[in-house]
Parts: sequence; C-alpha cells; structure tokens
Amino acid sequence: MTSPSRNQMHEAALLFWRQYIRRPFGVGAVMPSGPKLARAMVDALDPKANDIVVELGPGTGAFTRQLIADGVAPENLVLVELDRHFAGFLRRQFPRSTVVQDSAARLPEILKALGQPKVRCILSGLPLRSMKLNDRRAVTRAVAASLARGGILTQFSYFHLPPLPEKLAERSGLQRRRAGVVLSNVPPAVVWRYTKT
Ligand SMILES: C[S@@+](CC[C@H](N)C(=O)[O-])C[C@H]1O[C@@H](n2cnc3c(N)ncnc32)[C@H](O)[C@@H]1O
Repeated sequence: MTSPSRNQMHEAALLFWRQYIRRPFGVGAVMPSGPKLARAMVDALDPKANDIVVELGPGTGAFTRQLIADGVAPENLVLVELDRHFAGFLRRQFPRSTVVQDSAARLPEILKALGQPKVRCILSGLPLRSMKLNDRRAVTRAVAASLARGGILTQFSYFHLPPLPEKLAERSGLQRRRAGVVLSNVPPAVVWRYTKT
C-alpha cells in the first residue's frame, strides 16, 4: 500500500477541508472516506491484476490507496478529478498513475485520448446526489459509454436512494444492486454496484 506519511495525511485532511469550504456541493463531503468504505468499494469492484481501473472524483486518494494495496498496478490507474488542487495533490502522491484534471462527464473523450476507449472497472467517489440532475445524467451516459460489456461501476451514496438516475441507468444498460452498507463511515454510506449488460 502507498502509505502516506503523517504529514501527507495532515495535508490531505487540510486540503479536503479547504476545498469543501470553497465548493461544498462540488466536493460533497467534509472529510475523505474512511478505510472501511474504501475496503467495501474495492471489494464490490473486484479488479483483476491487469485491469485498467478508472477512478472518478478521487479527491485525496482514499480509494486509490486501497486499489493499489489490493494489487492494481499504479500504472493501470486513470484518476479523473475536476478540482485542480486535488489533481495536483494526486500527481504528487501517485506519480506513476495517469491523473487527468477534467470532468467525469468527459470520460469517453478522455479514454479515447488515452487509447483505451472501453474499460472493465470504474470506481466513483463523485458526489452524485448533490450534483444537478443534468450533470448526473451526463456522468451516467459517460460511464455507460465507457464500460465494456460485463464491466462494473462502484459508487457510494450517503442516502439510501440509488446514485444514478434510475430510468436512464436502465436504458443505458446499467444494472444496479446494493453491494453493502458501511455504518461506521462518517457519514454512513451505501455501496452500489452497476453492471453493464
Ligand atoms: C465526496 S469527494 C470524494 C473524494 C474521495 N473519493 C473520497 O471518497 O475520499 C468528491 C470528489 O469528486 C470530485 N468531483 C466533483 N465533480 C466532479 C466531476 N464532474 N468530475 C470529476 N471529479 C469531480 C470532487 O472534486 C471531489 O474530489
């Protein structure tokens, strides 16, 4: 596992808090996700050794570290983060991974530019339920267009409602199931697993 030093953890927490104050709805949480949620998200994704894994909204890398700890090669990680401060932090923390500072809604264009138009694994920490409906719809379409058949998206939410707009997800071939609930996370979170049919 890429173990961050105490200074790096401190820097991550401060950065998260600062960005939350600047853009509460864009960040969508007051602190990075805890290790139990990271564990549940990666278990639900179940990436294989050679999978290219896309992470949407990695923030300060709480899930990224768990992916690497579970055997995903840093070189096989594509981190798509909208916020330039988080993107800069991720580049310093994960220098072997591809960090793209852009919107998750542009995932098909991003993957095409990387020569990898379809992937099997997408893990998302996007604050979907605090995003505008149009943005949630754009992300849903982008994910559906980027997943290979049988591919998986894992996404958490702080509410019991599914994070993707239901009808659009169905029409886009994204079949949903609840993969777990992490009550000890602050706030408690539900982990969702979507399979591209
Ligand atoms: C709730 S935080 C989660 C951070 C991290 N995954 C975690 O769980 O600790 C949401 C993250 O999504 C990013 N974000 C918000 N909208 C985005 C978008 N359209 N495209 C990419 N990233 C976005 C935010 O900047 C923030 O880093």
